[in-house]
Amino acid sequence: MSVDAVLLVGGKGTRLRPLTLSAPKPMLPTAGVPFLTHMLSRIRAAGITHVVLGTSYKAEVFEEHFGDGSHLGLELEYVVEEVPLGTGGGIRNVADRLRGDTAMIFNGDILSGVDLGAVLDTHREADADVTLHLVKVEDPRRFGCVPTDGDGRVTAFLEKTDNPPTDQINAGCYVFRRSVLESIPAGREVSVERETFPGLLASGARVQGHVDASYWLDLGTPAAFVRGSADLARGIAPSAALPKPAGEAIVLDGAVLREGATVTGGATIGAGCQLGVDAKVDGAVVFDGAVIGAGAVVERSVIGAHARIGDGAVVRDAVIGDGAVVGANCELRDGVRVWPGVHLPDGGVRFSADA
Ligand code: GTP
Repeated sequence: MSVDAVLLVGGKGTRLRPLTLSAPKPMLPTAGVPFLTHMLSRIRAAGITHVVLGTSYKAEVFEEHFGDGSHLGLELEYVVEEVPLGTGGGIRNVADRLRGDTAMIFNGDILSGVDLGAVLDTHREADADVTLHLVKVEDPRRFGCVPTDGDGRVTAFLEKTDNPPTDQINAGCYVFRRSVLESIPAGREVSVERETFPGLLASGARVQGHVDASYWLDLGTPAAFVRGSADLARGIAPSAALPKPAGEAIVLDGAVLREGATVTGGATIGAGCQLGVDAKVDGAVVFDGAVIGAGAVVERSVIGAHARIGDGAVVRDAVIGDGAVVGANCELRDGVRVWPGVHLPDGGVRFSADA
């Protein structure tokens, strides 16, 4: 079995705005490197070297950063969709770049600890047309679920319900027999979840599930994004891009921490950042060049590149866009998003998205 990897990275990442206004979601820094670096390193560690990226939104950014992939021991190719074709359309659109008989497809925003070799083994042993990684989650009511029979064959793709019959959900990683991938209609938008998979089941194709309970997180929302970055830093989520868990903090080159400043909870401080006296950053992601004032508290939030957080400000569970300024003693909480370049004045402005 010769395997190509395909990464779907063409989405607009609307749930992560305003961070995704300047960079596509898979390129946002997590634990100090673009999220895609973690995914690519896991793919390489599984022995797959040819990787095709299906891009659309901000397509050029990927190649500018990763080039031909040789520094990662990979051969990277890029296929651009002028008009986004959806997940199924994006998979079909790279068909002519595949070299092997088997393609392993990845959603570009999933942080997962699945054993990729074991998923490929399941596919091979079942002689399946498609194999899906299905992960067991604590609360399956938030997701569509995917039951399997005693042989591990997928029996249905079910919509979200309050009473799901199984705790297995689609984990966003699939193995396709190449001929099956080529049967997806070309040149139009197709959803692999809503159209391709149900269609394959209806036509009697062998759709297999590879079920596990490994680490799994969809980084689509700000809360999940900061948690994923902290889990990577602390080694809770595995990544072959980090030689060893960094622990409580990752502080990149040129960052300056004044006396009493603390960084905890798997937080990342970007290159050239400045943390004032007694500033506290916990479980947050601070992009390059940001400034956190004296005595400010930043928890479980994302601080955009070159943003400035004023002295004594409190930022909890919030997203601050690139270059935005949060005045001294402001308090931002519970899902507040500040757009890039916005200036909030000093003097105790309080915002809570829930208020
Ligand atoms: P939201 O807008 O916040 O829902 O994010 P998204 O645009 O990334 O959509 P979603 O999370 O559903 O996408 C899952 C994965 O598929 C992500 O890695 C996307 O980059 C990717 N993706 C979504 N739509 C397309 C598309 O039309 N083409 C390609 N190539 N990839 C896509």
